[in-house]
Amino acid sequence: MNSKVTVVGAGNVGATAAQRLAEKELCDVVLIDIIEGVPQGKALDLTEAAAIEKHDAQLTGTNDYEASAGSDIVIITAGIPRKPGMSRDDLISTNAGIMKKVTQAICQKSPDAVLIIVSNPLDAMCQVAYETSGFPKNRIIGMAGVLDSARFRAFIAMELDVSVENTHAFVLGGHGDTMVPLPRFSTVAGIPITELMSKERIDALVDRTANGGAEIVSLLKTGSAYYAPASAAVEMAESILKDKKKILPCAAYLEGEYGINDLFIGVPVKLGANGIEGVIEISLTDDEKAALKKSADAVAELKSVLAGIDY
Ligand code: NAI
Ligand code: 2OP
Repeated sequence: MNSKVTVVGAGNVGATAAQRLAEKELCDVVLIDIIEGVPQGKALDLTEAAAIEKHDAQLTGTNDYEASAGSDIVIITAGIPRKPGMSRDDLISTNAGIMKKVTQAICQKSPDAVLIIVSNPLDAMCQVAYETSGFPKNRIIGMAGVLDSARFRAFIAMELDVSVENTHAFVLGGHGDTMVPLPRFSTVAGIPITELMSKERIDALVDRTANGGAEIVSLLKTGSAYYAPASAAVEMAESILKDKKKILPCAAYLEGEYGINDLFIGVPVKLGANGIEGVIEISLTDDEKAALKKSADAVAELKSVLAGIDY
């Protein structure tokens, strides 16, 4: 393949992302983990599936960063996931230390890469990667809004018994309980859902979306969601690799957009070969602005927790 994507963390999200990248023949994939044998075993297993899945992507599993050199994109999923009873924010000190080490290693080998951050708490981990790498803000992108919007779309399709392909949804804000699903910008075949459902039903779907991660954790009991998260990270990678310039909700470093400063938070962005090629500012109602402000305040609080940790 012409492109190379490194996935750091060969656990549930990382291995599934590697599988989807290879099966879509988007790039060669380097899978890295600290556990010896795991990335090697998973890369070999995926390689042995290639004849049946009909792709020629090369998969390499390793515990060091040599093979990752010159990656176009690095998807970072390394870290611990939450268990029942834990919030994403409970992961902050462990995952900040992991994110710092991983980012340092990646920067040495792939100084021009675009980083897609997945590890939680997402918005804070983007901040760690940004500060550690010194990369320009367009090359640090957090995956959350694509996942949260996909969940909202799934619930809309189930509610209205329509093809999920007809749905479109936007979820902005931090990747936490304060995320901001936007029904006004969520549509079925171009029709706003506000014209298709009662306010009570919309509120119920919005609530289910905001708690979508916890719903999966409570079912799985031993970890968190990974099929939809991997799909979301790969959709972002595809838009960058193919320079598709898709508009997707992603965590981006804001400097004044939406009245928010010096924070990573989910907003609609244009994703192309240069990573984030623009933040799309949509006009929000007073209620929507207040919800986004509340979400930004929660992310700012997490950023201040981060500042007090020696990671
Ligand atoms: P997992 O436990 O299955 O995999 C994590 C992997 O990271 C493990 O294989 C572990 O050995 C590896 N790892 C730990 N330290 C490392 C290091 N220093 N270098 C390289 N690898 C290292 O967890 P899972 O389910 O894949 O989730 C990964 C992270 O992604 C978690 O923090 C989770 O909360 C987050 N997540 C975020 C989502 C989002 O929407 N942003 C969605 C789903 C998960
Ligand atoms: C999720 O939303 C755990 O952040 C992860 O599923």
